Amino acid sequence: MERRPLLIGNWKMHKTAAEARSFAAALAVSAARLAGTADYVVCAPFTALHVLCVTLPRAVALGAQNVHPAAQGAFTGEISTAMLREWGVQYVLVGHSERRRLFAESDAWVGEKAAAVLAAGMRPVVCLGEDEAERAAGATEAVVGRQLQAALAAVSADQAADLVLAYEPVWAIGSGRTPLPEEAQAVASWLRAQLAERWGAAAAAAVRILYGGSVNADNLGSFAAQPDLDGALVGGASLDPASFLQMAYIVTGGNA
Ligand code: PGA
Repeated sequence: MERRPLLIGNWKMHKTAAEARSFAAALAVSAARLAGTADYVVCAPFTALHVLCVTLPRAVALGAQNVHPAAQGAFTGEISTAMLREWGVQYVLVGHSERRRLFAESDAWVGEKAAAVLAAGMRPVVCLGEDEAERAAGATEAVVGRQLQAALAAVSADQAADLVLAYEPVWAIGSGRTPLPEEAQAVASWLRAQLAERWGAAAAAAVRILYGGSVNADNLGSFAAQPDLDGALVGGASLDPASFLQMAYIVTGGNA
């Protein structure tokens, strides 16, 4: 199964709408460098979605960083799948470790969001990863396995092609430290084996798995070259358009 390489930028709480417009304009100037052999996504703050919807080059899809699973209702401060779709959002991060840690999102809640995103015709990017103590205790598989099962509780095999997993060790996020590419590959391969057990080999082979945590233009190539890794989820290094373009080239394996 050929999986399309995927580069996702996660801007977190960075960039006003005006700054997002400048980013899109810089990308548009070099749009020819965005090869058709990979998928590129920018996950922006809600307030920048509209301007990006109309200014991002066609090759770059729009992503959101969070969503509420209910269709609508009395949920002050939240945003629905329909509201995201209205601005052309195609990907939604769910279960990012910052949301799990700082905003107390549970495994089950992440599962509800993943199912809601798929039901709305968008692609959930389910983030999984162990923290430093869990890694030291040799509990990586136990942790990401538990997160995976809960995230997929209401997801079926026929939705596999729209599912993206991002293996993001918490200790690697924003720290400048990363696992070895081979270590990230081992976790990705283990995750794919779990998917195969659940859904069969064909569906498991359709799921794209990304590595995330301190990825930049210097180390992306070695992660993207791993057989079970299809690209990366990038925070800090995705904020600069030149860096984003460089990584967009690298994630294709140089086939731009
Ligand atoms: P980072 O963030 O690339 O800045 O480490 C990655 C993420 O949190 O998705």
